[in-house]
Amino acid sequence: MNKNKKTFYITTPIYYPSGSLHIGHLFSTNLAWVIKNYKTKMNYDVKFLTGSDEHGQKIEKKAKELKMNNQDYVDMQTSKFIDLWNSYQIDYDFFSRTTNNEHKECIIKIFNEMLEKKLIYKGLYKGLYSVEDEEFIPETQAIKKDNNFYHPISNHQLEVIEEESYFFKMKDFTKWISEFFEINPDFIVGQKIMKELKNNFLEHDLNDLSITRISFSWGIPIPSDPKHVVYVWLDALFNYISALGYTQNSKNYIKYWKEGDEIVHVVGKEITRFHCIYWPIFLHSLNLRLPSKILAHGWIITSEGKMSKSKGNVINPLDLLKDFDPEIIKYYFAAKMSIENDNVFEKEFILQTYNSDLVNTIGNLVSRTLAMIHKNFSQSIKFKETNEEHDLFIIKSINHHFDLYINHFDQYNINLAFDAMIELARDLNKYIDLTTPWKLTNNLDRLAIVLNILLNGIYTIAVMLEPVMPNHAKKIQNALNVPSLSFEEIKKMEKFDQILVNKSEIIFPRK
Ligand code: ME8
Ligand code: MG
Repeated sequence: MNKNKKTFYITTPIYYPSGSLHIGHLFSTNLAWVIKNYKTKMNYDVKFLTGSDEHGQKIEKKAKELKMNNQDYVDMQTSKFIDLWNSYQIDYDFFSRTTNNEHKECIIKIFNEMLEKKLIYKGLYKGLYSVEDEEFIPETQAIKKDNNFYHPISNHQLEVIEEESYFFKMKDFTKWISEFFEINPDFIVGQKIMKELKNNFLEHDLNDLSITRISFSWGIPIPSDPKHVVYVWLDALFNYISALGYTQNSKNYIKYWKEGDEIVHVVGKEITRFHCIYWPIFLHSLNLRLPSKILAHGWIITSEGKMSKSKGNVINPLDLLKDFDPEIIKYYFAAKMSIENDNVFEKEFILQTYNSDLVNTIGNLVSRTLAMIHKNFSQSIKFKETNEEHDLFIIKSINHHFDLYINHFDQYNINLAFDAMIELARDLNKYIDLTTPWKLTNNLDRLAIVLNILLNGIYTIAVMLEPVMPNHAKKIQNALNVPSLSFEEIKKMEKFDQILVNKSEIIFPRK
């Protein structure tokens, strides 16, 4: 094992198998996957987790509706998740399932430790609950309409419940978590979300959190009091370490969590409270290491508003695959959606993006350049130092846009990183227009300089594209006839001196 590499552990939420995954889930998973690929290229030792969150009242209800056994139901749904990520060519290291035995052992161990440490007491929960969101809502935050209560964000109807429950002493950690955010203002990526969290929660005392339920049974029972099952969020959050082998104190757990360098959870904004308040508190209460960052993103919405089954505007990611190669869809989601804001999805935008960024900008650049090389040279062409104004400008542009790309990626502005890539491709096309290489056929020395610079530019584009479109980047790599695509090579302008590039194939066929 390579001990010199820094470790990087990135996760998606584990999704509820109570329904089918839609493009919102695809957005989160793709984001995490692209970041994983980027960090791998940056020479990190990377692990990536996704999975399914299989307990709780909502799942039990759904299985009952379908007259299925709970476990059979979640098995069926989870295999669909796995098929979906396969179809999208999204690979991961861990598929975490909360119905796994290792996970159950982990939750029991944690619950017992919390009991021992007197972090937990038995009481009575009286209040409102959203089964759809699996969330307790204080009456002061609920929306009241015609004698019913509704969830303030999701609008799901709330149930009034009154039952015996174990509580975690969240309130005792109010001061600790406020101080934690003072010291770590960058813990959450997304300043808007950070502000909301501060106003809504951090400026008030936290409420103790009900962490068991007795009115249904689809969950992990507490050995000392088995009519209680563990609250689905306490169950779910610990998946991030149970999947690494926390219970056995495994090598992966030690390497990627306990002594790991960077740990990032990608989540949608509606579950930031669980990840930014409860999760750090749970970990801290047990003296466990905290994640480095929560990357909280906005929602994918359609022109009719947030996607929801009742509105009938949920988009099935499998439908998009009928029209597009998965990499085109992945590029669209990674490059055209901001993290901080909600993003409107329109299917036409995928085609527009494909045509403008990929066919007309990158594809055109590659085919024009390689065609000119083949027409004029039968040997490799060498880099030469140059003082020509356009040459100096474009070499600066290559370096500048590459630096910009790295800075944006490191700050998780993923869409802006790809903007930098496209700006560079535009500059390179402009460079062709300005240097008019087709008029240089009687000045082959000059033509060689221009085309060599263009090859260096295309190489840079291919490297930048690789984290989101590895197959297409590979096609460009093959056309360039280079042994690899690496960040370290970008600034070495002599890399094409001994290389005879291949004839271009069409990387992005027109649609
Ligand atoms: O919350 N736009 O699972 P879930 C963007 N099991 N992202 C969206 C989205 C949208 N319209 N809709 C869903 C749960 N997502 C829990 C998580 S983690 C320990 C437990 C994405 O099936 C986004 O990441 O409701 C959101 O947070 C997640 O799916 C919710 O998935
Ligand atoms: Mg949800």
